[in-house]
Amino acid sequence: HRHLLGIKGLTEHDITYLLDKADEAVQISRQREKKTSTLRGLTQINLFFEASTRTQASFELAGKRLGADVMNMSVGNSSVKKGETLIDTAMTLNAMHPDVLVLRHSSAGAAALLAQKVACSVVNAGDGQHEHPTQALLDALTIRRAKGKLSRIIVAICGDVLHSRVARSNILLLNAMGARVRVVAPSTLLPSGIAQMGAEVFHSMEEGLKDADVVMMLRLQRERMSGSFVPSVREYFHFYGLDAEKLKAAKEDALVMHPGPMNRGVEIASEVADGPQSVIEQQVEMGVAVRMAVMETLLLSQNQGPRSEGVHA
Ligand code: CP
Repeated sequence: HRHLLGIKGLTEHDITYLLDKADEAVQISRQREKKTSTLRGLTQINLFFEASTRTQASFELAGKRLGADVMNMSVGNSSVKKGETLIDTAMTLNAMHPDVLVLRHSSAGAAALLAQKVACSVVNAGDGQHEHPTQALLDALTIRRAKGKLSRIIVAICGDVLHSRVARSNILLLNAMGARVRVVAPSTLLPSGIAQMGAEVFHSMEEGLKDADVVMMLRLQRERMSGSFVPSVREYFHFYGLDAEKLKAAKEDALVMHPGPMNRGVEIASEVADGPQSVIEQQVEMGVAVRMAVMETLLLSQNQGPRSEGVHA
């Protein structure tokens, strides 16, 4: 149990442990002196095969605030460009004795594969359409801090659920914590078996947002769509884009969330993205805290004394 590969397999206790630890890390990030020596002497390598702003920056800052040595592997300038495989790249880095590899990759299961090969911890920073566990944890922390709890909260996850690892990890986590999860999308943007995952399905924003405590918008991932179904932006925004009018269906104090990057005017209007109910910037802040909590839990449990029960493969 050295790795964080997904939310699947984590218990309510594991998630609560990580969120409590992340709450403490928020305070560290708000201090003037942000650097601690918790992970001093340990080495973290960020290996991002897909583009990222939030996840890569927050993993880097999280490691630095814990006192680790952090290296960002520049995949675009690496021997990956000469055809070196993921595994060969990872084994090369593994020979330099890192303590944790943070991986983002376009293939589902890439982090799990790596975890079988390398000697260090592996953290999944997003693998294809599979999971993005630290995103779900930071979303949960944002909701818990605003609403005081996760159980029985109604969360409407809206938009391109089909291509979304964020949606998948969130559905798993919110169910584990006793929240009520809805998905709101056209049937063409829903994966098969979504109801069995524990989400109530809606095709209308008005119905799906009714009495929701949280409205979580997803990016329309047009780069993952092939010719058969690429919706027109105008039509998509008309039916599924969140604007002030559609938001009225949710509770008056509903949170507006988006994992980023946002397509303004596609899945979300600026009036709500920048409006009083938006917690999108808080999500980013919680991202650093959650990643600090995850790395501290994984790395200290290996290097010092008894393991926490927090994180599983
Ligand atoms: N939410 C998220 O994963 O954003 P990035 O792709 O910018 O890391």
